[in-house]
Amino acid sequence: TEALQVAIDGPASAGKSTVAKLVAKKFGYVYCDTGAMYRAITVAALEAKVDLTDDSAVTNIAQQTLIKFLPGDPVQRVFIGDQEITEAIRQPEITNNVSTVAAIGAVREELVKQQQTIADQGGIVMDGRDIGTTVLPNADVKVFMIASAHERALRRYHENIAKGITTPLDKLQAEIELRDKKDSTRKVSPLKQADDAILLDTTKLNINQVVEAISEIIRKKQ
Ligand code: C5P
Repeated sequence: TEALQVAIDGPASAGKSTVAKLVAKKFGYVYCDTGAMYRAITVAALEAKVDLTDDSAVTNIAQQTLIKFLPGDPVQRVFIGDQEITEAIRQPEITNNVSTVAAIGAVREELVKQQQTIADQGGIVMDGRDIGTTVLPNADVKVFMIASAHERALRRYHENIAKGITTPLDKLQAEIELRDKKDSTRKVSPLKQADDAILLDTTKLNINQVVEAISEIIRKKQ
């Protein structure tokens, strides 16, 4: 069996990271959550009180911020230098501002470079918006994961309830749809299915079924 590059893209809250993490574990591959990297830059920029519409100031932050994941960390903690930001990157303020940061071309250039370096390590499962189109255009397996906006909002709603966050369902769905719109209409590497990606609609599938579907695609390529 060969160590492959697996690219998983799709809209917000489609379950990409949950599934990608499990697939990586199953095949012994490295997992990289590229959304966490854009979120980390958003945390750093807001902490530095930088205006998020100031492209060059945000780009400076992106170039100076050392985002760290610990190799093989089962809970995928995220750090900026020594500061743990695992929880900070999931706060609503970050979620609702990250698409502004991610639309800046020079920020993407910096993070894409880092992502390609991470992927050079060998077998990798990477999830995001532009992995199959831009970061790893030669990935062995490309999956574009979708689900209805209502189903995605419901999944996020249940996750939130478990964490004690009580944002109403319709507000969550509106936020998800707005973020997708921003991500799909930006000029640089918009969210888009790669021509050679397999479309996987997970609306009616549970996590195990999605993991199994992707595992089957990987096995066929190995
Ligand atoms: O995947 P997640 O929802 O954590 O991503 C957060 C945001 O980061 C996305 O809404 C998008 O704006 C940006 N992103 C991106 N390209 C990626 C991964 C995430 O633009 N490869």
